[in-house]
Amino acid sequence: MSTKRYDEIVVDLGDRSYPVYVGEELLGDVDSMIPDDVGKVAIVTQRNIGIVPQLTRPLEIFYIGDGEQSKSLGTIGELCSGFAEMGINRKDMILAIGGGIVSDTAGFAAATFHRGLRYGIIATTLLAQVDAAIGGKTAVNIPEGKNLVGAFWQPTFVVCDIATLETLSNRERLCGMGEMAKYAFLGAEGLDQLSLGSQISACVRVKAGFVESDEREGDRRALLNYGHTLGHAIEAVGFEDRAVNLKHGEAVAIGLIFAALLAKRLGRIDASRVDYHLRVVRSYGLPTRLPFDVDPDRLIEAMCKDKKSFGTLTFVLDGGSGVEVVRDVDPTLVREVLLELNNQS
Ligand SMILES: NC(=O)c1ccc[n+]([C@@H]2O[C@H](COP(=O)([O-])OP(=O)(O)OC[C@H]3O[C@@H](n4cnc5c(N)ncnc54)[C@H](O)[C@@H]3O)[C@@H](O)[C@H]2O)c1
Repeated sequence: MSTKRYDEIVVDLGDRSYPVYVGEELLGDVDSMIPDDVGKVAIVTQRNIGIVPQLTRPLEIFYIGDGEQSKSLGTIGELCSGFAEMGINRKDMILAIGGGIVSDTAGFAAATFHRGLRYGIIATTLLAQVDAAIGGKTAVNIPEGKNLVGAFWQPTFVVCDIATLETLSNRERLCGMGEMAKYAFLGAEGLDQLSLGSQISACVRVKAGFVESDEREGDRRALLNYGHTLGHAIEAVGFEDRAVNLKHGEAVAIGLIFAALLAKRLGRIDASRVDYHLRVVRSYGLPTRLPFDVDPDRLIEAMCKDKKSFGTLTFVLDGGSGVEVVRDVDPTLVREVLLELNNQS
C-alpha cells in the first residue's frame, strides 16, 4: 500500500482475522489489498454509487437494486447465476461496494457461492463504515422477517474511505450518526471531540472488540443492539403505517433515550446519566422523542416480537457496570416510560 495516512484496525479472529482501513482516498490502494492468488473479481454494487476502483485483474460488475426489498433471496439467485456465467471459482473474489444493503447481500452470496468465497468490502455509507461492514454478519430478508436468512462469514478486508461519504445524502449521514451515538455508551466516550475519521476508527475499534469476544453473537455482541429494541419496534410500526417515515438511525436514537429513561426507572442509572444520553443524541442532531402519536401497546407488541426477546420484553440497558441485557421487564413500566419519552421537557 502507498504511504497515505490511514488507520489499520485488525479484527483479531485467528485465521479469520482481517484489517479495516479507515482514511481518505484509499481507493487507489484496493488492488494491493486483494490477495495475490485471486484471479477474477466480481464487484457487487448499486448503480447510483458510482465507485469502481482501478483493478489489475479481470472484473465484472453486478448491480443490485436499492432498499430492503433488494436484500432478498431473489437477488442472491441472480448474483449466483451471474457469478456462474462469469466463471467465478474458489480462487476468485467478491468485492462489495456500498452501504449495508450491498455488504449484507454480497456477503451472503460470498458465504454460499461455491460453499464460500473470499470477499472484500468498500463501505460507502457512514452506517456501513461504523457497523454493517464490520463483524461478518451477512443476511437477506424474507417476507416473514428482516435478516432471517444469513451466515457468519468474515471479509478479507474492509475499506472505510471518508471521501466516499461526500456524496451521501444528509438523511443517510444522519442515519449513520444514530449508530455512532450508541458507541458513546459502549466504550467510545468523547467522540464529539474527534475528527470524522477518528470517530469512525474509534467506533470500528469498539465493534472489533465485541466481535473478537463473541463472534457468533451470544449475549456480549447483543449489547451492540443498544437502543435497537425500541428502534426496531418504531421501524416495524412505521413499516405498517406509511405516515411514519423514520430512518433506522433516527429510530435507534429515540431508542437510546428510551433505554436511558427505562434504566433510570429501574434504578440502574441516575438523572445525570440520562442527561448525558440526551446530550450525545442531540449533539448529532438526532431526534430524542417520537415525532408522531403512536399507541404504546403497538410498540410493546412489536418489542415482544424482537428476535432477541424470546417473547418477553428484553432490553439492553445502561447500569453501574456498563450496558447489560435485562430480561422480563414489566410491560406496565415500559408503557409508562414510553409515555414519559414523549413528555420530556
Ligand atoms: N451486518 C451487520 O452487522 C449490519 C449492521 C447494521 C446494519 N445492517 C444492515 O445495513 C442495512 C442498511 O445499510 P445502510 O444504512 O448503509 O443503507 P443502504 O445500503 O441502503 O444505503 C443507503 C443509500 O445510500 C446510497 N449510497 C451508498 N453509498 C453512497 C455514497 N457513497 N454516496 C451516495 N449514496 C450512497 C445507497 O445506494 C442507498 O440508496 C440494513 O439492511 C441493515 O439491516 C447490517
